[in-house]
Parts: sequence; C-alpha cells; structure tokens
Amino acid sequence: MNTVTIVGSINLDNNLRVEQLVRPGETIHAKEHYTAGGGKGANQAVAACRAGSQTHFIGAVGDDAPGQMMRQMLQNEDIDVTGIQTIADQTTGQAFISVDDAGENNIIIYAGANFDFGVSEVQVQTVTIQKSDFVIAQFETSSEATIEAFKLAQASGVKTILNPAPAKAEIAPELLALTDIIIPNETEAQVITGVQVVDEASAKQAATALHALGVAVVIITVGAQGAYYDDGQTFALVPALKVHAVDTTAAGDTFIGALSSILHPDLSNLADAILLANQASSITVQRYGAQPSIPYQKEIEQLSK
Ligand code: RIB
Ligand code: NA
Repeated sequence: MNTVTIVGSINLDNNLRVEQLVRPGETIHAKEHYTAGGGKGANQAVAACRAGSQTHFIGAVGDDAPGQMMRQMLQNEDIDVTGIQTIADQTTGQAFISVDDAGENNIIIYAGANFDFGVSEVQVQTVTIQKSDFVIAQFETSSEATIEAFKLAQASGVKTILNPAPAKAEIAPELLALTDIIIPNETEAQVITGVQVVDEASAKQAATALHALGVAVVIITVGAQGAYYDDGQTFALVPALKVHAVDTTAAGDTFIGALSSILHPDLSNLADAILLANQASSITVQRYGAQPSIPYQKEIEQLSK
C-alpha cells in the first residue's frame, strides 16, 4: 500500500446542471443544484484514498461552515487531516460549476483560504512527507508551499507529482526542477510548452519540451483518448475505455490520485498503472459531481476483470 501526501486545495463545489452553458449577458434556469466536496487537491486525495492509499493532506480552509464540513468529509474518507489549517476570518474555497446536457462544463473558483498556508505549515508535516511514497501538488495553492514540500520530498527520495492545473504559463523553474512526474492535460501542456497537442507527434514534442524543463516522466492526459506517457525510454498512448461521459469534473483528479496509489514507487509499472488510472477516471465521468463520482478500489478492479 502506498503512502501519499497531497499539498493542495479544498473547495466546496456549487454544481448546476443546465441544458446549455450560459452565454454573456444571458440569464438561464438550472435544472438541478447540489453541493459536493471539490478542489483539485481534495479530489486527488479522495481518489488516492479510495484507490487504497494511506493518504495525508496539507491545506487550508476558512473558519466557516463549509470549512468544517469539508474537513469532516475528508476525515470520513480516512484521510489524515492534521495538516489542514483553519484560517481565521477567511472563507473556505468555493467553486461554481455548470455542466450542460452534452457533458461540457465551465468552472469559476474562488480560492479563499487555499493560498493562506505556506512554507512553515508544510515544514510542520516534514515527517509525514518523508515517510510518503509520493507527494502531489497542483496550482490551486501557493507555489512556495509546493516548492518546500517537493524539496523535503526529494531530500528523502520521495517522488513528486505535479499537476499543473489550472493552466498557468509562468511556472517557477525551481518547481519543475523538483518535479519527478508532471501530469498536464492537453491545454495545460500547450500553455507550458506552446505545443498544441493534437496527435501522437505533437504529444511527443510537448513531452520532449517538458523533459527539457527538467522533468523525468511526462504523462499528458488526452480526455476520452486516454493518456500519453514518456519516461525518456518509452513513449506511448495508453488508451481509455469508451464510455458515455455525463460530467468530466474531477476526471483528471481521479486519474492522478488513482495513479499515485497503483504506481510502484520505483515507477516500474508505469504503463499498467496508467491503464488502471484511465479506468478509474472512466468511472468518474459517468457520474455527476467531483468527489461523489470518484471510484473505490473495488470498482476499478472490477473493470479490469
Ligand atoms: O478539478 C475539478 C475541481 O476543480 C473541482 O472540484 C473544483 O473545485 C475545481 O477546483
Ligand atoms: Na464526475
């Protein structure tokens, strides 16, 4: 069983189901409204934990009801929440998500407390980081906190996984130098490298550009097609299952969390782990909401029988 530490965001997701996404200046009726646990960090932690990892979380919520609720939800999953700060006079991160009948979505996030922890809060969790197999971070929290966590990880031989989402062009070179595995989607890969990923040749080109930035293993997720990986020796597409997607929210998060649970810390089963991570996210896209849609180990295993 892997031990995984996530440094990341926690959001309360406000979900709306609509016939069509709203256009500028338009007012529309939603057919359903519900809230759910979200935030890229928290979703990846839930995915890791449900796929069988011992999971630790470093992050922050506000001193409000959503913050208490989100902390409790993660604790109910059996995620170690001792690394979650409660920030006074701050609101918990929130996301406003619309999903239309074609499964398209748009998301607005309000970061709230997510950027209100940094180097010292990470340092308190040094022992947790040192005993992990993987440390994972995204771009919904401060890069100072992530850089500190990745430094502590690499100093102890712990592998680091960076999910550069949401997309951001300016990434600290230090952060990429501290990253062992980078997992962008097509958009994020393009924002970082300038290469539009549309086929195998362009995926290879983007992966090569990411290697040049100092990252040894590149995995580019390409939605319904699956994921390309390039570890410097092998470059291949690991195809995804064909399914009917109703809501892709948290599909990428599921892929990353599940992968971190299945991947051997020496990365010896990379292709197999990506196949299972694809299967995990193929379950997520068939269900509504972020955390409610993330599968358990049993469900992932049943698919591979
Ligand atoms: O990746 C999906 C997540 O992005 C949502 O849960 C939302 O909270 C945003 O952070
Ligand atoms: Na979903």
